[in-house]
Amino acid sequence: MSYYIGIDLGTSAVKMLMTDENGEIIKSVSKEYPLYFPHEGWSEQKPEDWWSAVKEGLKELTDGSDKSLAKGISFGGQMHGLVILDENDNVIRPAILWNDGRTQSEVDYLNNEIGKHKLSEYTANIAFAGFTAPKILWLKKNEPENFKRIKKIMLPKDYIAYMLTGVHSTDYSDASGMLLLDVKNKKWSQEMLDICGVDESVMPKLFESYEVTGTLKSELAEELGLNGDTKVIAGAGDNAAAAIGTGTVKHGQCNISLGTSGTVFISQDTFSVDDNNALHSFAHANGKYHLMGCMLSAASCNKWWLEEILKTNDYIGSQKDIKELGENNVFFLPYLMGERSPHNDPNVRGAFIGMSMDTTQSDMTQAVLEGVAFGLRDSVEVARSLGMEITRSTICGGGAKSPLWRNIVANVMNMEIVTLKKEEGPAMGGAILAMVGCGEYSDVYEAAEKLVKYDRVYSPDPELVGKYEIKYKEFNHLYPTVKDLFN
Ligand code: XUL
Repeated sequence: MSYYIGIDLGTSAVKMLMTDENGEIIKSVSKEYPLYFPHEGWSEQKPEDWWSAVKEGLKELTDGSDKSLAKGISFGGQMHGLVILDENDNVIRPAILWNDGRTQSEVDYLNNEIGKHKLSEYTANIAFAGFTAPKILWLKKNEPENFKRIKKIMLPKDYIAYMLTGVHSTDYSDASGMLLLDVKNKKWSQEMLDICGVDESVMPKLFESYEVTGTLKSELAEELGLNGDTKVIAGAGDNAAAAIGTGTVKHGQCNISLGTSGTVFISQDTFSVDDNNALHSFAHANGKYHLMGCMLSAASCNKWWLEEILKTNDYIGSQKDIKELGENNVFFLPYLMGERSPHNDPNVRGAFIGMSMDTTQSDMTQAVLEGVAFGLRDSVEVARSLGMEITRSTICGGGAKSPLWRNIVANVMNMEIVTLKKEEGPAMGGAILAMVGCGEYSDVYEAAEKLVKYDRVYSPDPELVGKYEIKYKEFNHLYPTVKDLFN
């Protein structure tokens, strides 16, 4: 028997699980850490907080088990965050996260002055506020002293891998979101490094997600009581890891994630870019590629609405009076942190529209769930406009626990939504990558085939699909109508 550990370094918490080689979960642990909003639209976390949470979590996770059986550790991690270390390996400043909107002028410089065409040629993508390269330019301009001290640049999960192994590494899926990687050819883009003024020597070494990058540092292995030869496997950005964890590995397969962010992830066997770069064109954790749309606030809209506004934690109770789908006259624009796909607008903000004297709290809760589904459909529509037929998707993330929300998504998208028997998203993806890296399975395809088990299918109802079609068209008018209010 062997144990594998999957670590999902999320935005609200790190979720860690330990499985056996058959993917049976032996134990799971979750540890929260603070998220800082030092200015409106900024979003930061302290890498030191991640590391203490992971270290504590690893101790708890393996406590009571035969630690010598732990063979491999791997990750899914929040993408795009800028982590910088100085010559003594000290963290220079808090990490600037994927949903941070401070880089509008750097994004404008990259997209308009360097030009989208060139960016796409160099990296297969254009600049979005949350991507890493605009943050480096922001730092160079606004914190030149910090910029000068940079000796290592890394992504959030790679900081954890670095603390575990001492190896400065990343994987292609996560590196894709930096706007510094030539995604097609899987190497750092010299042009982009030059534009950002960074030397390749500060960049991590690139690996496939299922490759071994190192083993645990001996003093750490001793402290944790683990074997010094426990392997660390590169892992993936959280969406690619969730795709592995949901079995989204074959060409054309789709996974929708309703987490803090909301994503539509489409696995692709070959590299491709759409003309407008409306979807991100990234490497996948299976060694191939994917297209992805990302909305910045998905399940976090519902969390905000319930916990901050209604002051309740009763997620199930909040949905119990919602009965009539497709008839709601209230719309919610889910742009609490600005929006990435498809609007690329860090300044837009959320709004409720269409309330009347008879609007109830339930109507507004429903509008939040529907607004997120409409926002995700925007990305699905881009994929459909490229000729992709998406008629089925798995679903994962905290929001996917709600049967009502799954049903709304199935009908707004007009596709079958499939749940998993054990939905552990990126953490399970991490554990699977660890198994593949340790040779338990020959590749991620074999591992996904054997380990991922589907559960329920939510089928769209043609009448409701028709109603939501009309609502979606109405929703589509709202962003162009309100956007100038915020810019
Ligand atoms: C993807 C993205 C988010 C984060 C969330 O491009 O920015 O999904 O990875 O953790």
